[in-house]
Amino acid sequence: MKKKREIPFIFVAEEIFRPIYPAIARDIIRTTNIREGVCLEIGSGTAALSRSLARIANLRIVALDASRSVCKISKRYIKDDKLEIAVVNGEVENLPFDSSSINLVVSRGSIFFWRNKVKALLEIIRVLKSGGIAYIGGGFGNAKLKRYIEKRMKQIKPTWRVDNRKRMQKVNFDAICSMVENQGVKSCRIVRRTGIWMLVKK
Ligand SMILES: C[S@@+](CC[C@H](N)C(=O)[O-])C[C@H]1O[C@@H](n2cnc3c(N)ncnc32)[C@H](O)[C@@H]1O
Repeated sequence: MKKKREIPFIFVAEEIFRPIYPAIARDIIRTTNIREGVCLEIGSGTAALSRSLARIANLRIVALDASRSVCKISKRYIKDDKLEIAVVNGEVENLPFDSSSINLVVSRGSIFFWRNKVKALLEIIRVLKSGGIAYIGGGFGNAKLKRYIEKRMKQIKPTWRVDNRKRMQKVNFDAICSMVENQGVKSCRIVRRTGIWMLVKK
């Protein structure tokens, strides 16, 4: 059987997706208005979103990823950028943090890969402080950036747009939000903004 060729996501994140992270970081800060305290990025990859957040807010950032090798790579990017971001190797389903210790949880493009989304969301709610917000989903910052990404990705992988849409549709955000609302959080809101984001307020 012919093996499916995957594009290394580190190349994608650092070369093609590069301009989306500052735009998403601005959206996160504008929407949540959380500018200080502890921020946890889950499924951080190269920590591109964490690095963008570190440049615009006074947050103590922790970038967590399940892949040991990805964590190593993100540490290099953080060092090159002369930023202070802690990197933790771990899984969202079993977060190595105290309950009620985190002000802001962010995650882009990772929920689609979580093995146990219910367990993951319960963990995120557990670690959030009262008044804390989780901003989880996938997207490209704005319509112009989305068009640019689609154009670039099409040159590399013609089926990318369709594959990406299918991946996004695989996660039932409405069902997850309903489940989350039954866990005593203040609110769970879905925002469809050049992608899909779930905003959970504890
Ligand atoms: C598509 S990448 C997105 C990386 C980054 N957030 C970005 O937008 O560039 C998905 C990341 O989620 C991580 N991941 C997948 N399952 C995870 C889990 N259960 N817990 C933590 N990280 C996970 C992967 O290792 C990978 O780095």
